Order: sequence, then C-alpha cells, then structure tokens
Amino acid sequence: MTFVYCTGLMFSVYHRPPGRVSWQSLTPRKRNGYDALVATSSSSVRISPTAHYTGYTWLQHGLSHPAFATPTGRFLYRALVPANKAMAAAGQGTLDGFLLARHHLIDALLRRAIESGQVSQVIEVACGLSPRGYRFAQAHGDAITYVEADLPPMAAKKRELLARAGAGAPTHRVVEIDATAETGEHSIDAIAAGLDPARGTAIITEGLLNYFDPASVAGMWGRFARALGRFPHGLYLADLHLGEHARPIERVFAGLLGVFVRGRIHFHYPDAPAATVGLSGAGFGRPALRAPEEHQDLIGPVHVPSARAVRIVEAWLR
Ligand SMILES: C[S@@+](CC[C@H](N)C(=O)[O-])C[C@H]1O[C@@H](n2cnc3c(N)ncnc32)[C@H](O)[C@@H]1O
Repeated sequence: MTFVYCTGLMFSVYHRPPGRVSWQSLTPRKRNGYDALVATSSSSVRISPTAHYTGYTWLQHGLSHPAFATPTGRFLYRALVPANKAMAAAGQGTLDGFLLARHHLIDALLRRAIESGQVSQVIEVACGLSPRGYRFAQAHGDAITYVEADLPPMAAKKRELLARAGAGAPTHRVVEIDATAETGEHSIDAIAAGLDPARGTAIITEGLLNYFDPASVAGMWGRFARALGRFPHGLYLADLHLGEHARPIERVFAGLLGVFVRGRIHFHYPDAPAATVGLSGAGFGRPALRAPEEHQDLIGPVHVPSARAVRIVEAWLR
C-alpha cells in the first residue's frame, strides 16, 4: 500500500485543484501553474507522471505496445525497482503487484461482459497510456466500439501514440473528457450520446478515483450511471482502494504527503459493503466489489499481499 502513496505523489502534482473546479473553468494562468508542475523535459506534451509510470509497467509485463511507453515512464519505473524489490522481499504489497492485479481483473470482467453479448461499446475514462483499448480493439475488431478518453493534453498524446502503433479506426478512437464536467462537449454524457443507444456499454476508470474527494467521486458515479441509462445494458468497472486496507502508518504518510503536494489520496469507503451502498446511491442497481485474489481462476496467479490492496468495482446499472 505504501506504493499507493508513491503513485499518489506522482499523480497529485498533476491533479487539478481540490473541489469541483473544472479544467475548462481555470484561467490560462492557473492552467499554466498546474501544468508547470508536471512538464517533463522529454516531451512537448504534458502528461501525468502516474500515466507515464503505469504505461511503462504495462509494457514491462507484456501487456502493451512499445509506442505507449515513454522515457519518463522508464525513468520512474526504474527508480522504483529497488523499493518494489524490498517490499516483495518483506512480504508486503508491491506497486507492480497491485497494478497488475487491478488491470487483469478489469480486463477479465470486461471480456466476460463482451463475450456474454451484453456489452459492445466501451468508454475508458482517464485512459492515460493504458494499452487496454489497443488490445481489445485488436482482439474484437469492428465487433466493438472502443472510445478512449482523457484530458485534452493526454488525449492528444494518446492519439499520436496509437497512430504510431498502427492502431486507431472509426471503431477505436480517442476523445477529450473531463470526468468532473457535469455538462458540455467534454462531459461523459456528451460522449455517451455519440454512441449507439441500442448497444450495451461499459464505462471504465482505472487509477483515477482515489485522487478525487468523496463528493467528486459521488458526482462522477452519478453522471456515469445517468450516461449508461440510455443503453440496454450498462456496466461500470473501476479500481478502488478501501479504508480497511490502509494501515495507520500509511494514513499518516498519506496525510504528510497531502500537505506536501496540496492534494490528497482519499479512502472514500471503509469497506466493500459501504462502497456498494455508495454505488447504489449513485444509481447502480447491481453493484459489486471484486477481490482480485479471489478471482485467480479468471486472471491467473496474483501476488496476494499486493492484490489485497485493491478492489474492483463491477457495477451493472440494472
Ligand atoms: C494514474 S493515470 C492512469 C492512466 C490509466 N488509466 C492506467 O491505468 O494506466 C491517471 C489518468 O487520469 C487522467 N485524469 C486526471 N484528471 C482527469 C479528469 N478530470 N478527467 C479525465 N481524466 C483525468 C490523467 O490525465 C491520467 O491519464
């Protein structure tokens, strides 16, 4: 779990200011101020450091195309190798371990929904440098529509990288989104309105929720549920870290880190039952939290101490 805070550090310096301020509503001066915190020397496009890191992790574990790995990702990944090794040797969770557990289980649950015929359209919000869209588009071709979505700078970069990987098609595209937007062209509602209302649809967020405060997450979930309401089947998949898995020492560390980065890592819910109540309140009729270590039949062996740190939301609208 300590690594949750390492990624938190990388993410929080990029993350927008607290509260429900939309990126669009920031003045150019403020946008530049936040951007300056994350500008990388190797890229003319500003990308969240955590997106760099996870992007490189997927490649390291054979899940991605080299186009999605960046020098910054490689630098961050290598910098954390000793810490990862030390944690594994001490029998603790590792950053790679929990990233892989969450990624594989989201993949497996999405695959199951597609193969059951209930889902054939996907909107991956905050896609970053994730290879999931690339892999699912390759595996399913025109049978599915896969929309990757992120903040404008990341969306532009992802479009460029998909082209470099020889991917991208009318059924696999990248759009701009602000997950905090209630309305407007960058809202989830506008993106969902552009899809076929006759086909089942999944919304995915990976590596996003725990950087937003509880009110923002409740708002996001409510908007996702409403956006899915126009389709015959609606599924939401996400990773979530629960309070019961955060030990006191880690909470103290998270608090100190929060002061340092002017942001916070949030544990919105103490446990899985509380999180399912939150999902129900947002409008999901059949919410469940899945434990990766209990689904090794679906995803293969996991590093159990790492997998325990994360839960996967599988919430059907009806
Ligand atoms: C930790 S990265 C995760 C990337 C990817 N999902 C993965 O697991 O590899 C977080 C991503 O969230 C995106 N993001 C941050 N705030 C967002 C917002 N308000 N709306 C949409 N995406 C956002 C960042 O641009 C970044 O790509």
